[in-house]
Amino acid sequence: MKFFLDTANLEEIKKINALGLVDGVTTNPTLIAKEGRDFETVIKEICQEVSGPVSAEVISLDYDGMVAEARKVAQWAENVVVKIPMTEDGLRAVNTLSKEGIKTNVTLIFSVAQGLLAAKAGATYISPFIGRIDDMGEEGMQLIEDLRLVLDNYDLQAEIIAASIRHINHFQASALAGADIATVPGKLFPKLWAHPLTDKGIESFLADWDKFQEAL
Ligand code: G3P
Repeated sequence: MKFFLDTANLEEIKKINALGLVDGVTTNPTLIAKEGRDFETVIKEICQEVSGPVSAEVISLDYDGMVAEARKVAQWAENVVVKIPMTEDGLRAVNTLSKEGIKTNVTLIFSVAQGLLAAKAGATYISPFIGRIDDMGEEGMQLIEDLRLVLDNYDLQAEIIAASIRHINHFQASALAGADIATVPGKLFPKLWAHPLTDKGIESFLADWDKFQEAL
């Protein structure tokens, strides 16, 4: 499974990238707004830091607007992926852009039907939002499992990005369900390598070592 970071914060990205663990980045208008800086500048900086795909979302909701924005955003860097919302106009835009060789990430996927349509329209990536499905009292991870099955059944090439990941188990279950990618919030990522028993183990090994040294 590839690891993407779901953040527009360059410091967070640099920290995790230094571990060699960042295969790509996803952003959305909320994450860009949090940074309080110019959209184009932020995306260009991230694209320089990370060699993998970096998703930047369009704001327009109509077909013409989406395609125009996508063409502009796609020129910001070679590794930009244009994020398009899952709507009728969005599907049409994805179809047009895929024919132009512009990579797309169809976002806000909440059903197998939506994922299947996006993949057929030519999306490079599809982003089911598992945390937000859980918020509705349903099982977000089931959608990842179902989409994996459907894309494999019909040999569709879109990659599944498990998005709206809220906790460690979402990340682990995404890997078990066969997601191609998990996009993890910058704040959550450090929790993936931490475990209290690891800390406790290190502490007791070192305490025993100190006792041994004193006894020599
Ligand atoms: O990748 C999608 C993500 O940014 C949305 O996450 O936690 O707002 O549902 P969340």
